[in-house]
Amino acid sequence: MIFPPVSTLHEHRAHRKAAHDDPERYWLTYAHALDWMQCPSKALDAAGLWFPDGRLNASVNCLDRHLEMRGNATALIWQGEEESHVLHLSYRQLHAQVCRMANVLRDHGIMPGDRVAIHLPGVPEGVVAMLACARIGAIHVVLFGGFSPEAIADRLADSGAGVIITADVGRRGAKRIPFKATIDAALDHGAGTAIRHVLVVAVTSETVPMTEGRDRFLSPLLSAASDLCTPEPMDANAPLFLLYTSGSTGKPKGIVHGTGGYLLWAAYTHALVFAHTPGDIFWCTADIGWITGHSYVVYGPLANGGTILLFEGMPSHPRPGRWWQVIEKHRVTSFYTSPTAIRALMTEGDTIPKRYDLFSLRVLGSVGEPISQEAWGWFHATIGGGRCPLADTWWQTETGGIMISLVPGAIEARPGAAAFPLPGVTALLLDASGRILEGEAEGMLCIAGSWPGRALGIWGNDAHFHATYLRPFPGYYFTGDGARRDRDGYFWLTGRVDDVINVSGHRIGSAEVEDALAMEPAIAECAAVGVPHALKGQAIVVFIVPNGPASDDIQARAARAVTTRLGRYAAPERVYVVTDLPRTRSGKIVRRLLRKIASGDIEGFGDLSTLANPAAVTILIEAMRREASSA
Ligand code: WT7
Repeated sequence: MIFPPVSTLHEHRAHRKAAHDDPERYWLTYAHALDWMQCPSKALDAAGLWFPDGRLNASVNCLDRHLEMRGNATALIWQGEEESHVLHLSYRQLHAQVCRMANVLRDHGIMPGDRVAIHLPGVPEGVVAMLACARIGAIHVVLFGGFSPEAIADRLADSGAGVIITADVGRRGAKRIPFKATIDAALDHGAGTAIRHVLVVAVTSETVPMTEGRDRFLSPLLSAASDLCTPEPMDANAPLFLLYTSGSTGKPKGIVHGTGGYLLWAAYTHALVFAHTPGDIFWCTADIGWITGHSYVVYGPLANGGTILLFEGMPSHPRPGRWWQVIEKHRVTSFYTSPTAIRALMTEGDTIPKRYDLFSLRVLGSVGEPISQEAWGWFHATIGGGRCPLADTWWQTETGGIMISLVPGAIEARPGAAAFPLPGVTALLLDASGRILEGEAEGMLCIAGSWPGRALGIWGNDAHFHATYLRPFPGYYFTGDGARRDRDGYFWLTGRVDDVINVSGHRIGSAEVEDALAMEPAIAECAAVGVPHALKGQAIVVFIVPNGPASDDIQARAARAVTTRLGRYAAPERVYVVTDLPRTRSGKIVRRLLRKIASGDIEGFGDLSTLANPAAVTILIEAMRREASSA
């Protein structure tokens, strides 16, 4: 069975109604879009588990079941950084590679439920490794290539991964990114990790140090392994993967996604939002280290039997227009990217994309941050030629897949709006005291009830999941985002309402940045906030109170503390050295005021008498004025 098309307003309404009136029946019916080893008899149980008695294997759904009909169809096109580096893998070939990798993992002692870390650049082995884990019931933990060794060590320790798959180096334009060296450094750091084996993909012929007994190159192991591997039947609620993401408090948490509900949600939303049809060539530009890469590079499109494109390079290397050239060359039909990328590409102007034949494109998508009307308009007109629907898709790591989006054909777009909740999603706006707002309103975005893609929890800390998402507004899932609903019911996302910062689509907790700063002995106190940034969406601004007299290099030290602990992607845009930070009487730093000041808005602070130290604000404003006049 395939998902039925939803391409008219009437169908959209009918699906929303059916999913709302009888979710049990709706989702049991659509569960048949997957291949089960044991069909579920129930959609959602009282404990909140989806398809509780179903058993399946995600790799079988993404590979084996397509072999008969589409075995020779292309599953994956890989375009390397170098123009001549192109690989086409049919479903049969991808299946064989996944089986080999799965056998190698089994040979290294990996059992169902074990965690396997994956830290790779944009090479096909990333997709192969994820599906290989799924095949043998191992839980993959993909770690973003931009994490620092310390950030990786934390995640390895928390997940308890026993094996890591990495590369010698990654290619980034003319540069080489030291993947293996980063893992070596992480393992030197992390006495707390359980890593026994490091399996290395040789991306280039560069030599890298290998630790005897621990490190092995993958390619001889893969060639020696069988290309058949019996898939492990998994409970629908057995974890498929962990993925680390940041919240407003504490350390990054390992969000756990299950097998059945997650896969169904990835496939259902992919089919609906991208109106997937066989023969489509789907390009999602996200790194597999993020949830977008999990759901829309790998699981959604492959479960639906699509062709995925994986590009190793960058948008404008070796020259502007590289992405458009990739679309032209590989006849991409569906293109999914981020507002950050669009903003950057927009600055290159219209003449560059106009040089390419982009007529293969049929549908466009945007994800990760609010998209401005201007960026939406440019993407739609210049890349989509005004003829491709452009879906702004709102969702989160925790939701598993798209939640609020345009459904092309069914809904008319409004530039900058994420449009409507998908069938099966009940989105609500609440005010600060938890009252439901009706009609045209602005409030906290919450979701009522459950949906199949909802995360199972936080690795090793289910109480935290409850406290973060379910306690703030009892009875609802709280997203952490604010949104406005217009008179016609369209949702417009307005950004996070908590202390999560979104830099170029990377989600960073202010607490994470502050914890990193606190490790620097020269810093006594600190606060990190997000401020609007024309290209990045938001940028990190840091306030520090030095420990004693400030040294000349204190700003550089502060920045280094952050990049060492987290990675370059979290580098602060500006570091202010101050004497005091505004606090409430109970001692909490008032980030709201800092955000306002750092955004250059230094008027209208109202009554500051509730602060323990109102003078801190006056001093800050003075410092800003001085800086503005000296600039
Ligand atoms: C946060 C989730 C969803 C996959 C990539 C990011 C923001 C995401 C949109 C959008 C406005 C958006 C939200 C959300 N966000 N998509 N279309 N419009 N904001 O996943 O790293 O878990 O981040 O990204 O603030 O809560 P993530």
